[in-house]
Amino acid sequence: MVITIDGPAGSGKSTAARNLARALGIAYLDTGATYRAVTLKALREGVDLEDADALADAAGRARIHLSPEPAATRVWLDGEDVSETIRSEAVSEKSYYPARSPQVREVLVALQRRIGAELGSFVAEGRDQGTVVFPDADVKFYLVADASERAKRRCAELRARGESCNEQKVRTAIERRDRRDRTRDVAPLIKPDGAIEVDTTDRDVAAMDAALLAHVRERLDKDAGGGPAP
Ligand code: DC
Repeated sequence: MVITIDGPAGSGKSTAARNLARALGIAYLDTGATYRAVTLKALREGVDLEDADALADAAGRARIHLSPEPAATRVWLDGEDVSETIRSEAVSEKSYYPARSPQVREVLVALQRRIGAELGSFVAEGRDQGTVVFPDADVKFYLVADASERAKRRCAELRARGESCNEQKVRTAIERRDRRDRTRDVAPLIKPDGAIEVDTTDRDVAAMDAALLAHVRERLDKDAGGGPAP
């Protein structure tokens, strides 16, 4: 079974994907981590982020390994555990450069499909999972939430890690990232055909998890030939 969850930053994708995967007993694939790992590699090597060829070269050389664990996916870059480092604001902000590069996307889409093939059944989370990477997914979700709520969630995450946070600044950064994700030429963030849209603004995590699981069960029942009662 392949399930995709796409949506903007802070819409609840990661939590939803992780919890849905756990409930169904299948793997969770965090594809944003691959873009973050390439961003970190480029920053560490002093690669000019405007130089598409140099970025693609860094992506091609990056040895990225994802190891899905119950609490969070651990991410390895060139043999080093970078799970925490790739979540910094610096990496978040600059990840837009690799994400807008067709050559980098080609490398990372191939990697994501390879991981997917190995996993067999999984919940994949990102911006282009239902549109580009796994267009034949069994169930596709598109998560949305108000920008102010997303900023609040991001700040709560940062504060939990002991970092300070200015919600207004974070909201501005989130809106800038949204614009970039939605307007880029390659694999822009859009609602995939056939995707179920879920607004998570006023739902707590338990309500969001329950909504997604109910949709998956309904889809599975339909595929099994049951269909809704007349
Ligand atoms: O979901 P995230 O914040 O970890 O994503 C990090 C960056 O990668 C962000 O700039 C969006 C981009 N991304 C993408 O373009 N396509 C994906 N499938 C996943 C993430």
